[in-house]
Amino acid sequence: MSDDKDWETFKQKLFNKSAIDLNQYKPAQMQRRITNFYTRHGAKTYVEFFSKIESDSRLYKEFVDFLTINVTEFFRTPEKFVELEEKVIPELLSASPRLNIWSAGCSIGAEPYSLAMILMDKAPHSKHRILASDLDVEMLAKAKAGSYAPGDLKNIAPARLNRHFSKVNDNFIISDDVKSRVEFVRHNLLLDKFECGFDLILCRNVVIYFTEEAKDALYRRFFAALKPGGVFFVGGTEAILNFREIGFQHYLPFFYRKPL
Ligand SMILES: C[S@@+](CC[C@H](N)C(=O)[O-])C[C@H]1O[C@@H](n2cnc3c(N)ncnc32)[C@H](O)[C@@H]1O
Repeated sequence: MSDDKDWETFKQKLFNKSAIDLNQYKPAQMQRRITNFYTRHGAKTYVEFFSKIESDSRLYKEFVDFLTINVTEFFRTPEKFVELEEKVIPELLSASPRLNIWSAGCSIGAEPYSLAMILMDKAPHSKHRILASDLDVEMLAKAKAGSYAPGDLKNIAPARLNRHFSKVNDNFIISDDVKSRVEFVRHNLLLDKFECGFDLILCRNVVIYFTEEAKDALYRRFFAALKPGGVFFVGGTEAILNFREIGFQHYLPFFYRKPL
């Protein structure tokens, strides 16, 4: 039977092994999800489950994937991407012709590659920078490979799909031209240093299981990482209630701006 001591030991051991700090995730949800997971794999306590992931690297990988939930798609929440493309990016480009963008928690790359395709249409001759980061190295490897199932692509306009992808068997491979515009790095948002000087930061559908304190600290760090006038774009259920207190201005729903 799991108890508090079992949970505390598990959190510490997992942190030592993976640098994933469960103290920064909402405990009730995390405990429920992890208990469901370990019960399916025949463990009865967190510590017993930890010895299983210690000795079974496939199970460990499956568990990290499960914890970090990597679900994504191109142009996720398409109506927000229309605003991004038609209003936010043109306004940012009018202030600075070469944009410095960060897709934080990029999973298999659908989000930063969506940005790259937008910039190729809006400002094809400028050398922009798109930094894309994730905690999960397996996801980064998939992002770099750039091979997608049809379901990931359902929001891409047919003309774009034809221009930027080639079909190989049942999958779609993104062009080298789009790939070359995105720089992928492993980065833990709860632990690692942030760069500064971004025109646009996206952190969408990443923070769902973070505690309120972890989210607040993270949003303050994103604020500091933006240039004056820079924009922060969050997921469709992740409105920031205390955006003013952090220093942001409201720009559009789910977009916040750092004042000039
Ligand atoms: C649901 S996906 C979101 C992908 C994309 N932003 C989107 O909206 O479609 C969440 C991603 O956040 C990553 N993630 C979770 N915790 C993280 C952390 N502490 N640091 C960096 N990435 C993290 C996961 O590995 C996962 O790939």
